[in-house]
Amino acid sequence: MKPSTNRLPPGPRARYPGQHLVAFARDRLGFLRHLSAHGDVAHVQFGNQHFAIINNPDYTRQILVTDNRNFTKGRGLERAKLLLGEGLLTSEGAFHLRQRRLAQPAFHRERIDAYARVMVDHAARARERWVDGAIVDIHQEMTRLTLGIAGKTLFDADVEGESREIGESLTAAFDVFNLALFPFSELLDHLPLPWTLRFKAARRRLDSTIYRIIAERRARAGDRGDLLSMLMAAQDTEGDGGRMTDTQLRDEIMTILLAGYETTANALTWTAYLLSQNPEAESRLLDELNCVLDGRLPVMADVQRLSYTRMVFAESLRLYPPAWVLGYRAIKAFTLADYDLPARTILIISPFITQRDARYFPDPERFNPDRWTHKAVAERPRFAYFPFGGGPRQCIGEQFAWAEGILLLATIGQRWRLRLAPEHAVALDPSFTLRPRGGMPMITHLRPSRLS
Ligand code: HEM
Repeated sequence: MKPSTNRLPPGPRARYPGQHLVAFARDRLGFLRHLSAHGDVAHVQFGNQHFAIINNPDYTRQILVTDNRNFTKGRGLERAKLLLGEGLLTSEGAFHLRQRRLAQPAFHRERIDAYARVMVDHAARARERWVDGAIVDIHQEMTRLTLGIAGKTLFDADVEGESREIGESLTAAFDVFNLALFPFSELLDHLPLPWTLRFKAARRRLDSTIYRIIAERRARAGDRGDLLSMLMAAQDTEGDGGRMTDTQLRDEIMTILLAGYETTANALTWTAYLLSQNPEAESRLLDELNCVLDGRLPVMADVQRLSYTRMVFAESLRLYPPAWVLGYRAIKAFTLADYDLPARTILIISPFITQRDARYFPDPERFNPDRWTHKAVAERPRFAYFPFGGGPRQCIGEQFAWAEGILLLATIGQRWRLRLAPEHAVALDPSFTLRPRGGMPMITHLRPSRLS
């Protein structure tokens, strides 16, 4: 190991107080790109808060895996507690570990096998709703679809009909998390400002859905074997032996429902867009669907067989990772590469930046599913690609998301070819997740049916 040289990583100096904040607020991705040009670890300081921006698979591994005990979630997720409370995404330490163990069985392979039927069933109904030649907002459609699937599979609840209100509430809530980087933003929470009022109304709206799910289940007692039954039956054997309180239950349900649909809806939307721009990949995908499925609906066993569909989804998650930035905070001072960083430094690790780095992905802006052959994957460092994070805080829903992504692409792709609506300018909205700004209006084209 090289001796530490007791210095901070390189980075741009602010010419006036707040310059970096303004630059970040104006163009988040552009600012991160600009910083990463300073090296694999770059540094900026806002007031007395140090930030280190990481763009190196080894250092990413060090933070997420090897030294993960020295890091807690960063400011964005600390702020997200306003909505998510102490759910899986935001809780820490022994409490997090216990809740994660409780929820884990709901994401085991056999459970995902059972969810596959619900996923395909919902997608098959959605594809029947569309009309040939219409313009549909694919982002809205995917949001409705993935919300319905998460609600049904994990909580046996019907929430699809509420997708618009839930989506709007979530957008209002994101505005408050977006303030996370601003020093003293917590103080603003207590003032009756337009966005804090909007946030509180949004939280009330989301709470009403969650408490309805809990009340409905209590009224129909009995173990349904789903995540909600597991959480409700869970006893705190390590603690005081009491059941989870309604608030804890609410926090877990809110977290898993929101984390479980927004991200996947964005991933599917970006995939539809990428396919519309890359007809060659699209026609290879269709060949695979015809060859493997021959007109029938997919089942779980097809997820393994649809290898090109998987490669398309993987490449889409590379270019447009829904969780575009991960933020962690150091508990104690630590050394990274040759640099010494103080306690409380915030680490910014961005799948968006690393996954578009030419050192790991030559010609990085190009959509090329062939990057995902087994051989090509084995030649790259593990943390050159981490759309689901890594280590103990890795996404619990990763296998759920792969199954859902592949099955939905297959079910919809068999029937519909989608083309971007003319004059729609595609733009990124890097909020809490990486959404398409202004949705994704696309024209539906019916493919000749092979079912008849
Ligand atoms: C394409 C879809 C998805 C992407 C890109 C994604 C991405 C991620 C990432 C990057 C993390 C780690 C965050 C961090 O380190 O701060 C995470 C955590 C999490 N995800 Fe996902 N996710 C997806 C789908 C899902 C699904 C389908 C579910 C549930 C049904 C889910 C539930 C969660 C939960 C509960 C956590 C917190 C885990 C913990 O800290 O123990 N996600 N996700």
